[in-house]
Amino acid sequence: MTDLLFEFTEWIRTTFLVDFALWISDTWLSMLIVTHFWAIPAIQTVHILTIGATFGAVLLMNLRVLGVVGTGRTIERTGKRYLPWVWWGFVILVITGFGMITAEPVRELINPIFWIKMGLFLVAVIAAAWFQHSVAKKSMSWDASGSASIGIKLGAVAIIALWLVIMLCGRWIAYAPT
Ligand code: HEM
Repeated sequence: MTDLLFEFTEWIRTTFLVDFALWISDTWLSMLIVTHFWAIPAIQTVHILTIGATFGAVLLMNLRVLGVVGTGRTIERTGKRYLPWVWWGFVILVITGFGMITAEPVRELINPIFWIKMGLFLVAVIAAAWFQHSVAKKSMSWDASGSASIGIKLGAVAIIALWLVIMLCGRWIAYAPT
């Protein structure tokens, strides 16, 4: 596994990302962030608080689909209640994520775990869109039958697991073998 990650890093080093990262580190915005000692911790704090709020919403929606919590509320109402939190959370995560990339471009862009996390983040965005689409189309039948189908339930478990892996990757970026 470590070898694979190391190989991935070596490959990243052959791409335009090295020059791009060095170029970002020379921009005024990058300079501005790194010359204010509180800026990176402040951006990170917003990133982490947003993860808490967004993952909370994802967890409550998916536990509702599994029939574990909030069963007094229909799946449609649950989606309406929590999906805006997820979409706005994604927006803030992207903004704060870009802030951290601008501050330390080489540490982030020449990092295999960062790119694995970005791939998984895309899957999480697609999963949220799929959930929204399914709720709009099928929630009446789920609510009428008292429970979602087994496929949807497996999807709910997979989405929770996906978020756990993304959070692990976020923390792991700092320790990647680069
Ligand atoms: C599902 C969405 C996301 C989750 C769950 C997530 C999770 C995390 C976590 C747990 C950390 C570690 C914070 C710490 O303890 O220092 C982190 C850091 C970070 N995240 Fe995210 N993140 C998400 C989305 C994004 C996006 C969209 C970007 C980029 C556009 C991004 C870029 C970063 C960067 C650059 C760091 C700093 C890593 C370091 O230098 O140590 N994240 N993220």
